[in-house]
Amino acid sequence: MTGRIVVGVSGGIAAFKTAALVSRLVQLGEAVSVVMTESAQQFVGPATFSALCNSQPVIHPFDSRFPLGPHIELAQDCKLLIVAPATAHVMAACALGLADTLLSTLYLNVECPVVMAPAMSTPMWEKPAVQRNVEQLRLDGVHLVGPEIGWLSCRRQGAGRMAEPETILDFVKPFLTSTSPE
Ligand SMILES: Cc1cc2nc3c(=O)[nH]c(=O)nc-3n(C[C@H](O)[C@H](O)[C@H](O)COP(=O)(O)O)c2cc1C
Repeated sequence: MTGRIVVGVSGGIAAFKTAALVSRLVQLGEAVSVVMTESAQQFVGPATFSALCNSQPVIHPFDSRFPLGPHIELAQDCKLLIVAPATAHVMAACALGLADTLLSTLYLNVECPVVMAPAMSTPMWEKPAVQRNVEQLRLDGVHLVGPEIGWLSCRRQGAGRMAEPETILDFVKPFLTSTSPE
């Protein structure tokens, strides 16, 4: 199936693991574009994704490379949107249908499957408000992978650790039909 995968990276520590996911997708022969939130840049540099994808990540909703707007143009040939890590904030925005950031606006505009890999502290993950948003996203057809229980950057064990890149890769493979050799 032609089309590109858009990987949305939001602002959590686990963003560094998304570089490995993007690399694996590229190695599978997939065309990958990366959308980063402003916060995501605090955790991983755009240059990492530029090199991995051979194209600069899209960060600004008014990026002049996209006269129609990146939320429109990136959606046009998008066959899969992966949000990893998916922060509490980005999931709330998507659950509510807010179009106040590029990533949440792109989410509203894509017509392809959407996979989210949540990542946050255990108290955040267990908060009723977050769980309500997760349930709403499920009802809206979003596919969630993880989070897992394990070591968290806040130095405790618990639920909220982002699924490993290989786990996300295995999860999204059924959405892809690319048969390019690894
Ligand atoms: C060191 C640090 C780590 C953070 N890790 C997470 C995280 O894992 N998950 C999360 O939902 N928010 C995390 N946050 C908070 C988000 O960065 C913050 O809510 C931000 O507004 C998210 O914006 P975005 O969703 O647009 O990327 C962290 C903040 C800091 C300072």
